[in-house]
Amino acid sequence: MKIITHSEKETFSFAKKLAKKAKGGEVYALSGNLGAGKTVFARGFAGGLGVKRNVNSPTFVLMKIYPVKKNKSIKHLCHIDAYRLKSARDLAAIGVADYLGQKDSVCLVEWPERIKKILPKSIFLLKLSQKDEKMRTITVEKHKNA
Ligand SMILES: Nc1ncnc2c1ncn2[C@@H]1O[C@H](COP(=O)(O)OP(=O)(O)OP(=O)(O)O)[C@@H](O)[C@H]1O
Ligand SMILES: [Mg+2]
Repeated sequence: MKIITHSEKETFSFAKKLAKKAKGGEVYALSGNLGAGKTVFARGFAGGLGVKRNVNSPTFVLMKIYPVKKNKSIKHLCHIDAYRLKSARDLAAIGVADYLGQKDSVCLVEWPERIKKILPKSIFLLKLSQKDEKMRTITVEKHKNA
């Protein structure tokens, strides 16, 4: 699937719709340059799961867990930003395995290339690409990690 968005709001809404289809256990790898819209996507996704708390880039904390209250099967939204990560071991140390690929969680990963080794086999790969100030292309594909 490939879509084009023309504003932050459109990216937000697209993510929100995707979130409503989530059943639990999904991992979304959000790939794209600085400013491509990964965090905007994460915010929209959180909105779709009914997360009320403000979702910011967790760049300085590596991982943030948001409680999901209005969903039967999903209990946690896990937002990982691997931008400053030095070693996948650092994430292991803070308990990422409790969420990554777990049935009662959905994980969104910014800069997934940096934690390839610990990503589950089956993920959704989203590629966000900035075309101009407001235009972004977003492709979504099921991806099998080798
Ligand atoms: N179509 C669009 N979709 C998403 N964001 C857009 C769009 N048009 C403009 N923007 C702007 O682009 C910026 C995207 O920022 P965002 O923090 O989501 O990027 P990011 O991919 O998370 O970057 P980083 O790698 O620094 O974390 C925001 O300032 C947003 O307002
Ligand atoms: Mg970000």
